[in-house]
Amino acid sequence: MKILVTGGMGYIGSHTCVELLAQGHEVVVLDNLSNAKPSVRQRIERIAERAVEFVQADIRDRAALRAVFAQHRIDAVIHFAGLKVVNESVSQPLAYYDNNVTGSLALFECMAEAGVKRLVFSSSASIYGDAEVVPVREDAPLSALTPYGRSKLMVEDMLRDLGRSDPAWSVALLRYFNPAGAHESGLIGEEPGGVPNNLLPYIAQVAHGQLACLNVYGGDYATPDGTGVRDYIHVVDLALGHVATLEHLAKAATPPGVRAYNLGTGRGNSVLEMVRAFEQASGRPVPYRIVARRDGDIVTSYADTTLAERELGWKAERGIAQMCADAWRWQHTPKE
Ligand code: NAD
Ligand code: UFG
Repeated sequence: MKILVTGGMGYIGSHTCVELLAQGHEVVVLDNLSNAKPSVRQRIERIAERAVEFVQADIRDRAALRAVFAQHRIDAVIHFAGLKVVNESVSQPLAYYDNNVTGSLALFECMAEAGVKRLVFSSSASIYGDAEVVPVREDAPLSALTPYGRSKLMVEDMLRDLGRSDPAWSVALLRYFNPAGAHESGLIGEEPGGVPNNLLPYIAQVAHGQLACLNVYGGDYATPDGTGVRDYIHVVDLALGHVATLEHLAKAATPPGVRAYNLGTGRGNSVLEMVRAFEQASGRPVPYRIVARRDGDIVTSYADTTLAERELGWKAERGIAQMCADAWRWQHTPKE
């Protein structure tokens, strides 16, 4: 298949491009490089030993999108492009609604015009809000707590309405839990600008000596060791989940409509478990101190992955030891 990957130069997108190419698919990346470096393209090509078509453009630019659909016979779209920093979305809500909602609207309109109705959308477990029941199933109530989460929920709603209006659409809403780790080559990974917000990049920088100490946000939660519990999924497993999803959509005899799937491991790990796993993987100490809870944090979140296993034939295989080892290798990679 020839796949248009929006945001394909970013963290999850770049790993997905590598796995798509490894499975023999062709890839056209459209990315505005607002949160990625141009050199990612060469790194993807180096790992995959194949070429990647790249268009530097914004998903809100309908003319650029139309040109891509006119130039290439696209079989399906994987839509990663968007802004993703939760606390930034609180201070800049309009930028988030514009990029994530208006941008998605422009993309879907251009897909409809071009007759391309097969789509994989990057959604987020944040749309479960503070789920009452864990593991979280796809039919749990949806409620976002931040503009970022609401932007994802709005796009999911838009796609559910689109699917109701036209049964020719095949759409998978992939709700990621906590993506972490990097490619085992050490060539691609997550590159947060400034001080990282997410746990694993922060721990990696502490182990590396760039940051002095991890602030653990809360030590008195109702969890086994008092710290928050999340479902950390290796980014390569996540990438493979996208390939499995596309293949599932492509082989369906009739378009399967709009379906949501959790992509997680089904296991939860605490902050302190992640600290210990990283210390082991890196052989370096990770000093930490317990501080006040972070505003808006939930206590425990991990996925029920039954649906993805059953319908997509996909299951995460890598554990936190490998995730930390790969994140540590990536931490050492010279970045330009
Ligand atoms: P990322 O920032 O690394 O990648 C996003 C890419 O999209 C970047 O390369 C950026 O340059 C590009 N982009 C942003 N806005 C664009 C626009 N308007 N037009 C064209 N390109 C644009 O983020 P990521 O971690 O790879 O996340 C990918 C997707 O997955 C996002 O939609 C994000 O919301 C979602 N997601 C991420 C996480 C996570 O923890 N990383 C969790 C759940 C969901
Ligand atoms: N944590 C710390 N110290 C830090 C950073 C994080 O103790 O410096 C803790 C948090 O309190 C939480 C856990 O580590 O218990 C994970 O925090 P992250 O910020 O890495 O991840 P979140 O689960 O808070 O948020 C992530 C993504 C969001 C997404 C959400 C739900 O960053 O985009 O998962 O899918 F919305």
